[in-house]
Amino acid sequence: MGRKDAETYYDEFAAWYERARGRGYHAFLDRMELAAASPWVKDREVLEAGCGTGLILEGLARLARRAVGVDISSAMLEQARARGLEVVKGSVTDLPFADGAFDAVVSFKVLAHVPDLRRALAECARVTRPGGHLVLEFYNRRSIRYLVKKLKPAHRVAEGTFDTEVHTVYHTWEEVLALLPENVQAVDRAGIRILAPTHHFYHLPGLGRVTESLEAFASGSPLRRWGGFLVGVFRVA
Ligand SMILES: C[S@@+](CC[C@H](N)C(=O)[O-])C[C@H]1O[C@@H](n2cnc3c(N)ncnc32)[C@H](O)[C@@H]1O
Repeated sequence: MGRKDAETYYDEFAAWYERARGRGYHAFLDRMELAAASPWVKDREVLEAGCGTGLILEGLARLARRAVGVDISSAMLEQARARGLEVVKGSVTDLPFADGAFDAVVSFKVLAHVPDLRRALAECARVTRPGGHLVLEFYNRRSIRYLVKKLKPAHRVAEGTFDTEVHTVYHTWEEVLALLPENVQAVDRAGIRILAPTHHFYHLPGLGRVTESLEAFASGSPLRRWGGFLVGVFRVA
């Protein structure tokens, strides 16, 4: 199966994207991501890089003074616009904003799909004012999620489109740190999806709530380094 560029892949995925979202495992993920961003975006001007259909941007818009989304896929943005959100088409590797335009830049489930991650990190830092923060999520190679994904067959995300067709890289935390621009320093990190080997644990009757509570507890504990998703908080000097 060949690779598609992110724009084509997400344009094809867009109509199916919210089929399983807004509940269960996906809603849990979004809640955890929004909670990680909250302290850094409250009453500030914030950019979400790779905002997709606006599921998280909607929450950010309620917290922030101003929330703007940018995404490479027109079809995903169409749904974000229908939610009444302020969005712009563009790539995280070439952000269509001035230097220091935002107090914070956040990004969830995006950077693992960007081939030039170093450039994306530099762009996120460039559009953040000195003293501002980045809240960025990466897929963690040191996680149960990575091992399970490696064993799983391709999963259909839309008619004729499979999850293996988009560029996806799992990083270690050390690899991420090595790609940061010089003026950016890590100040914190959280782990998401640490204990549950598959998302099915969130949908089992009775077990979903228990799984969520255990995962929420583990997120800030020393176990966070094994999270399937790593959310780093970085300060821009
Ligand atoms: C899995 S979705 C996540 C959407 C949203 N952040 C959320 O959590 O619901 C990934 C999004 O990243 C966008 N994306 C991928 N590569 C991108 C790039 N280079 N620049 C901007 N957006 C990109 C895709 O179009 C897609 O909307």
